[in-house]
Amino acid sequence: MKKRYTIIHTEQTDLVIHDGATENLHEIIDATNQTSYVILFDAETYRLFGKKAETSLQKFNKPVHIFIIETGEASKSLSTIENILSFLIEKNCDRKTTIIGIGGGVVSDIATFVGGIYYRGVNCILIPTTLLAQVDAAIGGKGGVNITDYKNIIGVIKQPNAIIIDPLVLSLLPQEQITSGMAEIIKMAIAFDRHFFNYLSTVIKLDNNVLKKAIHTSVNLKMKIIQEDPLEKTNTRTAVNFGHSFGHAIELMAKIPHGFAVAIGMVYAMEVSTKITGFSKKEMDQAIVLLRKFGLPTTIKNLSKNDVLEHMKKDKKNFGGNFRLVLLDAIGKLRIVENIDKKIIEESFHKVLI
Ligand SMILES: NC(=O)c1ccc[n+]([C@@H]2O[C@H](COP(=O)([O-])OP(=O)(O)OC[C@H]3O[C@@H](n4cnc5c(N)ncnc54)[C@H](O)[C@@H]3O)[C@@H](O)[C@H]2O)c1
Ligand SMILES: [Zn+2]
Repeated sequence: MKKRYTIIHTEQTDLVIHDGATENLHEIIDATNQTSYVILFDAETYRLFGKKAETSLQKFNKPVHIFIIETGEASKSLSTIENILSFLIEKNCDRKTTIIGIGGGVVSDIATFVGGIYYRGVNCILIPTTLLAQVDAAIGGKGGVNITDYKNIIGVIKQPNAIIIDPLVLSLLPQEQITSGMAEIIKMAIAFDRHFFNYLSTVIKLDNNVLKKAIHTSVNLKMKIIQEDPLEKTNTRTAVNFGHSFGHAIELMAKIPHGFAVAIGMVYAMEVSTKITGFSKKEMDQAIVLLRKFGLPTTIKNLSKNDVLEHMKKDKKNFGGNFRLVLLDAIGKLRIVENIDKKIIEESFHKVLI
C-alpha cells in the first residue's frame, strides 16, 4: 500500500510593537496555562534589561528563572544548548514552560532553538533588542547554532508565539549597530516595496518616529513573506537574501558588520541586474543615494576579485557552482535568476571592489 497524507500544521504569532514594552511584559504576555517562565539573556542584555523584565514577569506569581549566556557569536554552540536544557530540567520546567529570549540575534536564535526542541516544542516569546534582531533575526522562526565554521548549520524553524518589539531599547545601541540594522530595512524596501523606498528616500533625519515607522513596515513585509513561505520551500522566502551572496563573502573577508556587507552586496546585485534584467541605472543610483544617506558603504577597498569569487562559489545557495542571485527588475520587484554567466559575475565586481 502506498498512501500520501497531507498534514497541515498552523502556527500563530502575535506581533507587538510598543514603546517601553520590556518594562511591562506582564501587561502584554498571555500567561494562561503557563506553569513557569525562563528568560534567556546575554550578559549585556541582562545588565540592561534583566531586573525590570524579571520584576514584571514575577507579577504572574509563577516561577521565573533566568539563564545568562556569554555575549557574542561564540555562544551559538551545541554546548550552550546543552547547558540550557540541563538548566530547564533542573528547574523542573515542563511542557507549559515559556522560554523568553531578550537580546540580539544571538539570543533569539538560541531561544528559538531551545523552544523548538525542549519537550519537542514549548511556548517561545522573542523580545529582540538590537535593530537587526527586531527587523530580521527574530522574524521568521529560524533558530539554531553554529558548528565550527558552519554558521546556522543546525536548528529549527519554529514560529514564536509572540514577538515583542520595544523601539525605546534602541537608544542604548551603538550607532554602528543602528546603521547596520538599517541595511536590512532598506533591503526590504528595495526588494519588496517601492512606496516604502520612496518614503525612506524623503526622510531627512533618522529620528525615533522614522525608525519606528521603518521597523513597522519592514517587519510587516517580512511577516507576510513568512506567512506565504514559512519553511523556505519556494523562492518567496529566499528573496529576503537579496544582497547576501556577495555580502556574506565580503563580511567574512573584510570582517565588517553584517549590514555594511549587505549594503555593498545589494549594490553588486543591482549592477548584475542592469546586465541581465535591464534594471535601470537610474534606480540603482537612487538606491545608492539612499544607502549612503543612512551611513552605509556602497564600495569596498583592498579585496581581491578572485578571493571574493571563491567565497561566492561556496555560498550554499549557489548549487553546484552555478551562480544564482536574487536580482531586480525594478525597485520593489525582484526575481531569482539561476545559472548566471561567470563573465557577468566577474565583470560586475568593478562597481563595488575598488
Ligand atoms: N534567525 C534568523 O533569521 C537570523 C537573521 C539574521 C541574523 N541572525 C543571527 O543574528 C546574530 C546577530 O545578531 P545581532 O547583530 O543582534 O548580534 P548580538 O545578538 O550578538 O548583539 C550584538 C551586541 O549588542 C548587545 N545588545 C543587544 N541589545 C542591546 C541594546 N538594546 N543596547 C545595547 N547593546 C545591546 C548584545 O549584548 C551584543 O553585545 C547572528 O548570530 C546571526 O546569525 C539570525
Ligand atoms: Zn542579513
